[in-house]
Amino acid sequence: MKEENEKFLDWIVYQIYPRSFMDGNGDGIGDLKGITGKLDYLKELGVNAVWLSPCYKSPNCDNGYDISDYRDIMDEFGTLDDWKEMTAGMHERGIKLIMDFVANHTSDRHYWFKEARKSKDNPYHGYYIWRDEIPNGWQSVFGGPAWEYNGATGEYYLHSFAVGQPDLNWENPKVRKEMADVIDYWVDMGADGFRCDVLNFISKDFKKGKMFDGPKFHEYVKELFGREKVRGIFTVGECSFGKEGIPQICGEDRDELKCIFQFEHFYIGQEGKFCRRPYKIDEARDILVKWQNFYQDEDLPYTLFTDNHDNAHYISRLGNDGKYRYECATMYAVMFYLLRGIPFIYQGQEYGSPDPRYSDIKDFDDVETFNYFEANKNLPDVMDRINYGSRDNVRRPVCWNGGKNYGFSSADKAWITLHSRGEEVNLERDVNSEKSVFAFYKKVLALRKESGAVRHGRFTDLTAGEGYFAYERSDANESILAVCNFENPKSIEGLPCGEYLFGNGAKRRDSNGSYAPYETAVFRIKR
Ligand code: NOJ
Repeated sequence: MKEENEKFLDWIVYQIYPRSFMDGNGDGIGDLKGITGKLDYLKELGVNAVWLSPCYKSPNCDNGYDISDYRDIMDEFGTLDDWKEMTAGMHERGIKLIMDFVANHTSDRHYWFKEARKSKDNPYHGYYIWRDEIPNGWQSVFGGPAWEYNGATGEYYLHSFAVGQPDLNWENPKVRKEMADVIDYWVDMGADGFRCDVLNFISKDFKKGKMFDGPKFHEYVKELFGREKVRGIFTVGECSFGKEGIPQICGEDRDELKCIFQFEHFYIGQEGKFCRRPYKIDEARDILVKWQNFYQDEDLPYTLFTDNHDNAHYISRLGNDGKYRYECATMYAVMFYLLRGIPFIYQGQEYGSPDPRYSDIKDFDDVETFNYFEANKNLPDVMDRINYGSRDNVRRPVCWNGGKNYGFSSADKAWITLHSRGEEVNLERDVNSEKSVFAFYKKVLALRKESGAVRHGRFTDLTAGEGYFAYERSDANESILAVCNFENPKSIEGLPCGEYLFGNGAKRRDSNGSYAPYETAVFRIKR
């Protein structure tokens, strides 16, 4: 790997969903001042980069992923000065800032779209995708038809997501120039990188009937990020590819993206977003091993994540968030964050936040959840499905303590119903407990920082059976052995012996032997 890219393996990213992280001005909505007040906390955890979900001006039909002004801050979140203060505070602490870049669509309240929809000869009309008749049966990702009628022009516009998120027409060079200018604007302001929202949607494949993965994708990405000014910055694309596609988008000779989110492990145990299917954690392990080997052979950075703002918590979907919540949360930390790649931690994971539960749809806020509810409200188990799959599972305010609004806000009411388990699971309670997920995360991240083998060494799978995952990360100086047992007690044999570093159970004298449910342990093997 080129030295300039190798350094990204030193990054440990924390994702902030600003609406729910911390309210700094007492209006019940998280904001940038709230984030600034928590930077020492992030430093203590041990992360060195933040991915900030959209904080731009937005009418919030999709919580900020519908942008009405790419160059300004959403009123509820503060001002550009707040952003500058927050960014300076991050940089002072050695924390990089990754902004969310929403390239596929704007808000329908963006100036470009307000103009575009007025008439066919408006200069902005060509910024969006229009048809005189509905050309196909495309369904939007959030449910319902992807074409919406516009009375003033008598046409239909494409929206791959909500009706309020019209797709930009990337075939238009003016659109590509506008978006390049947006990137440059934030780079000039001090942003260190971008997480690129549904990037593979920017090129459509009308011939093959797909709203994404069109033939111009690579050309557009290279045109945007291959420019001299931004070639060196960090970019991560929300776009999964198969083995042939990955070197095409992340290859070092390509000047496209530095890495992508590979989502395969994310979707196990799901049938669509809202229904369960039987799973084994072994499926996640096999997927991880496959991609670890592949990315290592290709010498490209992989991304390591269990949670983000779009899916229920991993420990609730694919583990045990009751009796074994601590064990499960910490086991997954070792299972993912000592692997080869760039860790992404979603807010709340670090104190073992589980999914909440509600019996009323009024306790939800998300457009995708509402669309699903509307379409399925006659099903007897609809609320169970909503509780299982809703994105609001991970969008409740962070529970900092057991006080008012769980420490998130001094307002009478937060913007969304609080976490139903906030009293039992909150950061303050966690850090004061002997079984602290936060304390464990700190150990994992500190080891990552300290050990060159973990950051840059080789990955070797040592698993020799079902029900667990054992792997080694090694360089010329040392090997780190990570052992993760899954849900059943198990005797694990055949592993190398080493010095016990830490684990989530009693101190072990040996890496071999019996492991309790979700037990994990980490060892150092000196060369
Ligand atoms: C993917 C984002 O992660 C999600 O939250 C959003 O709703 C869609 N893209 C549309 O922007």
